[in-house]
Amino acid sequence: MKCSFRLAGLWCAMAVGAFAQTDHPVGNIFNPEATPAESVYRLSVLVLSVCAAIFLVVAGLLAFTIVRFRRKTDDGHEPAQVYGSSRIEVAWTVFPILIVFVLTMATARVVIAIQNKHVPADALHVTVIGHQWWWEIRYEDLGIVTANELHVLVSTKAKPAVTFLKLESADVAHSFWVLQLSGKTDLIPNRTNTMWIDPRQEGTFLGNCAEYCGMQHANMLLRVIVQSPADFERWAADQKPDSMNDSHIEAARATFLSLSCVNCHTVSGTPAMGTFGPDLSHLMSRARLGSGVIQNTPDNLRAWVKDPQAIKPGNLMPNMQLNSRELDEVVTYLSSLK
Ligand code: CUA
Repeated sequence: MKCSFRLAGLWCAMAVGAFAQTDHPVGNIFNPEATPAESVYRLSVLVLSVCAAIFLVVAGLLAFTIVRFRRKTDDGHEPAQVYGSSRIEVAWTVFPILIVFVLTMATARVVIAIQNKHVPADALHVTVIGHQWWWEIRYEDLGIVTANELHVLVSTKAKPAVTFLKLESADVAHSFWVLQLSGKTDLIPNRTNTMWIDPRQEGTFLGNCAEYCGMQHANMLLRVIVQSPADFERWAADQKPDSMNDSHIEAARATFLSLSCVNCHTVSGTPAMGTFGPDLSHLMSRARLGSGVIQNTPDNLRAWVKDPQAIKPGNLMPNMQLNSRELDEVVTYLSSLK
């Protein structure tokens, strides 16, 4: 017994250590920061308490029976066999039905309240499209396209702000889950699902794809950056399409545009208009690369372009076999996309 406690302790310490080390720590569903997550959290507490109460009653009766009615002496007689009590059978049929009915109603109420949310006129509308294995993020009203980092407004009592999400998929089924902000919602090919969030706290909230979608499903990471109106305005202004023609990077730009990068990636204001991979127009405004797997630093960017397969095996960006001059120029050009 002592040994198993020690093992459990060791396992917990290792698990905590593993979570502490990762750059993408798992959020806490018991610390909701937006209305949909809060509703899901309250419902979970109700369901967990009902289940815990049932467990205590059943396990308690079982333990009591085992101790109280254990065979003390072997007198050769079987104990009294009791069966066929319709009163008891009705009771243990009706009570579970009532419990399931109450939990179903409570769940339906939460589902309906979230689904039927009234869309305020000033809501921010964002389309999130799941790809293997990254997130395309489009602000149609603002003319902004980005990837993997969803910027939204903080919702305060003085200035409530709701972000409505249209969830779509470009390939297979994915699932949008930013656990402190909302429940899971699937992104399904040829179908549009919706979700909304109204985060109460500024900061970065981490999310994951929550539907197995292939080899790099676990590295389909998502960040939601919740900002004050002023910060959001600044970010949005910086994301506006602008054709930068910085003469210092003219050669680097020409090299980038001559390579097959342009078949999959868009850089606004250039002939690069591919849509298979993430839009790179303002790549340097993002904190991470490869849908969250590494920090966006010059060294990491270089390593990623050199061989994305070494960092995220199986991802759909091939090793382009660039020579070192091409690699330098591509990295120089990408680094200029502020
Ligand atoms: Cu996308 Cu799992």
